[in-house]
Amino acid sequence: MKWVYVSDLSHHVGEAVELRGWVYNARSSGKIRFVLLRDGTGVVQCVVAKGQVSEDVFEKTITLTQESSIIVHGTVRKEDRAPGGYELDCKDVKVLQVAHEYPITPKEHGVEFLADRRHLWLRSSRQVAILRIRHRIVKAIRDFFDGRGFTLVDSPILTPAACEGTSTLFETEYFDLGKAYLTQSGQLYAEAGALALGKVYCFGPTFRAEKSKTRRHLSEFWMVEPEVAFYDLNDNMELAEEFLEYIVQTVLKSSAQELKVLERDTRFLENVQKPLPRITYDEAVEILKKKGIDFEWGNDFGGTDETVISEQFDRPVMVHHYPAKVKAFYMKRDPQNDNLALALDVLAPEGYGEIIGGSQREDSLDALLHRIREHNLPQEAFEWYLDLRRFGSVPHAGFGLGLERTVSWICGLDHVRETVPFPRMIYRITP
Ligand code: 4AD
Ligand code: MG
Repeated sequence: MKWVYVSDLSHHVGEAVELRGWVYNARSSGKIRFVLLRDGTGVVQCVVAKGQVSEDVFEKTITLTQESSIIVHGTVRKEDRAPGGYELDCKDVKVLQVAHEYPITPKEHGVEFLADRRHLWLRSSRQVAILRIRHRIVKAIRDFFDGRGFTLVDSPILTPAACEGTSTLFETEYFDLGKAYLTQSGQLYAEAGALALGKVYCFGPTFRAEKSKTRRHLSEFWMVEPEVAFYDLNDNMELAEEFLEYIVQTVLKSSAQELKVLERDTRFLENVQKPLPRITYDEAVEILKKKGIDFEWGNDFGGTDETVISEQFDRPVMVHHYPAKVKAFYMKRDPQNDNLALALDVLAPEGYGEIIGGSQREDSLDALLHRIREHNLPQEAFEWYLDLRRFGSVPHAGFGLGLERTVSWICGLDHVRETVPFPRMIYRITP
């Protein structure tokens, strides 16, 4: 008997096949048992009729509970009324294990209850859809860069110094060499890669000891960071808009089924096509003022500010030229105005806020030395980074896209905790 997956049933109509999976739901109607089987690729109704299977098998199916593991044999039938379009007429059911009192039932559960059982919660159709879309986004990200001549250059996770400010560092002892920190961003190493290979990206886990309990913050998240030699801020923005268009359009094409499970209204996603609107920080501040928000020029935007700004647009908006004071030490200043950094943030619409942060990098050795002192960073730890400005320094730029925030936006979720298999947050490290 050929073992097939639910997603492939359309190729096996009229054939006898084997399915392996778990009971999603089971109910009886007289002499018929309806067993919904899920196998990770989909759900199909298996019809177990008295007389069509042995007496013993029929009795055993009565004991089936949610999440019991089973192997069934039967014939595939096209059934237009069935959710997936097919049903299985069973000839045999093998029970591997009867699951006793599976804690997650079809009724409503509180989110903490579910989060405590994340290892089981992953089996629900919603979570399966999210994880599948996450996977497709990761693949789209890789395909985008790989198809444009970028080389993947992995950045280390254990690092000797901060990259994005010292307030969110996770610290650990590192043998006899003192303190090490979990990386906040792979960027500094990607810069070395860009000066070696031209166009590179790194893509891996990053860490922030964020004290925030918002729907946008995780303490461990994935970031993809392209970095390109000889790019300026403008080139960076063009790359960012082309990148976002590619990801969103690819997911719309590949994941219609999953987006339907999530009841995602895709109208705003369809709009994600270049050119994306570009506004300066000053113009963003004007928007806030017009909306009656008390905002002082020079501050960074908070979550609510970002929501208000992004709500003025029906697609992601690129905000550039931020006050240098609120941005990282490595950002190049605007040659026309030293108070401004050649920075770029992309805010996602529908209130999702910042998904991309990036900039043109400071390429002058003197200016960078000055910044490192200004930010009270240990110069020794950055000597290797300063070498990039000593030996063939060139203009260069890049950005980082937060994977979980992107998944949250594309899936239309309320919180980033559902975008990652096992979320790490200020108040959660289990399961
Ligand atoms: O804006 P950030 O801090 O930029 C950097 O780290 C740069 N070094 C990137 C670069 O230029 N190569 O972070 C980039 C993105 C944010 O826009 C956001 O999407 C995500 O990373 N991010 C977080 N996602 C989830 N939880 C957190 N605590 C996050 N902090 C940042
Ligand atoms: Mg940022």
